Amino acid sequence: MSTADRKPFVGGNWKMNTNSAGASALIGAVTDRSGSSDAEVVVYPPFVYLREVGAAMSGKGTNVRLGAQDFRHEPDGAMTGCISLSMLKDCGATSVLTGHSERRHVIGESDSLINAKTKAALDAGMQVVLCIGELLEEREAGQTDAVNERQLRAGLDGVAESQLGQVVLAYEPVWAIGTGKTATSGDAQDAHTKIRGLVESMYSADAASKMRILYGGSVKPGNAVELFGMPDIDGGLIGGASLNADDFGAIVDATGR
Ligand code: 13P
Repeated sequence: MSTADRKPFVGGNWKMNTNSAGASALIGAVTDRSGSSDAEVVVYPPFVYLREVGAAMSGKGTNVRLGAQDFRHEPDGAMTGCISLSMLKDCGATSVLTGHSERRHVIGESDSLINAKTKAALDAGMQVVLCIGELLEEREAGQTDAVNERQLRAGLDGVAESQLGQVVLAYEPVWAIGTGKTATSGDAQDAHTKIRGLVESMYSADAASKMRILYGGSVKPGNAVELFGMPDIDGGLIGGASLNADDFGAIVDATGR
């Protein structure tokens, strides 16, 4: 399967940004700019704006889909402050992130929790964007491949090949997130090739060739064309630049390689 057979994917991770009026304005501008793209485009607003962002989208007949940045994997119960998958589905979300570096390294989520969340979301019928990537000190110690392998194997532990159609992987080197530093397209391609090879060794050549692997970390309109032009980079997970509909739209357009 060639790159052209994998549908490009661009996710807009709004993180802890926007407010009610800003989220409504942003989704309006994103759907105007990118709503008829051939790429798969998903936005991940903060929980509290999911409903209004979803409502703004549903009136527009857009291709853009709604996702959520996080969730708790138990179905319900005494979990103060947590949001379940069924609540997200109620709000119209069809995609979730797991393993994001801010949840791993700021909030302290473990590989085993990320695995439990990934499996729960897949079982709930959601698309899961599983994020992996190394810290700067791990990169400098030559551990990039080992960290990616550990996080990928742990994240997908117990996930059947039949569920992989719901999975998208995102390689986000932590030192590149929000820093303005991007991996060179060659370094990113190298990491993506190895990740695809791991999927092959864990599952099959067919699974590896179908798996979309996104790059994330300071993707901007000025570097997206080169990154997305690499044969194993199937799109991006975008933070800062997803808060501007023109920049995000230019990044989405860059997948039309
Ligand atoms: P930035 O694009 O702001 O570096 O964020 C990347 C990211 O973490 C997306 O999930």
